[in-house]
Amino acid sequence: TAYFACVQDLKGKRILISAGGTREPIDPVRYIGNRSSGKMGYALAEEAAKRGAVVTLISGQTALTASSRIDVIKVETAKQMQDHIEEKFADSEIIIMAAAVADYCVEEVASQKIKKSAKTLTITLKKNPDILLNLGQKKTKDQFLVGFAAETQKLLAFAKEKLERKNLDMIIANDVSKKNAGFNTDTNIVKIITRDKSVEDVPMMKKTALASIILDRIKSLYNSET
Ligand code: CTP
Ligand code: CA
Repeated sequence: TAYFACVQDLKGKRILISAGGTREPIDPVRYIGNRSSGKMGYALAEEAAKRGAVVTLISGQTALTASSRIDVIKVETAKQMQDHIEEKFADSEIIIMAAAVADYCVEEVASQKIKKSAKTLTITLKKNPDILLNLGQKKTKDQFLVGFAAETQKLLAFAKEKLERKNLDMIIANDVSKKNAGFNTDTNIVKIITRDKSVEDVPMMKKTALASIILDRIKSLYNSET
């Protein structure tokens, strides 16, 4: 089958991937979410597994199903995502944060459904932990850490700043305001930035094809740097 015909160039590599958007509850029936479909993270997980990697996928709620060779853990909130990622982190060689993690959660989640009353409703949000930032601080020299940057302006400057601040080995910069790129599309247009600040422009392509290119770049750097 196609699976066995594929080059097993990531054989046995332990790869941890996050995908999809988190949901932050407001009350028992409502949440704050985002437009992430999970397609990029799932494409990375499938491609890595095809190439022989041992893949754990920490997934927000998505409409996608991963193939059975991938170990999937479904989560709802950023905090739950962080707990599962931190549990698997030490045992992972390559870590890719493709998830759209909510930056804030609701400070006081209502235990009962909020009834409509006044003309305006104010909900106070508090900052979520930055999962990737924490991983960057704990990372050992044998681990390769990859982040994504979702931007609507100053793509390169903001992405480079995140690479540096979060101590990443690579960042995939996404201009999410472009057509055919970013959230909830089958294609993406990205720039791949590495520690030496070199920038590779990747033209529009299917997220499945992009997943393969990203893994190629990770593989060659992982072999030379770690
Ligand atoms: N990320 C994370 N935990 C968070 C927020 C983001 O791990 N609480 C990760 C994302 O998975 C992504 C990277 O950090 O790999 C960058 O996410 P992004 O939203 O682009 O950047 P932020 O650092 O959250 O900054 P901002 O949203 O203000 O641009
Ligand atoms: Ca963010």
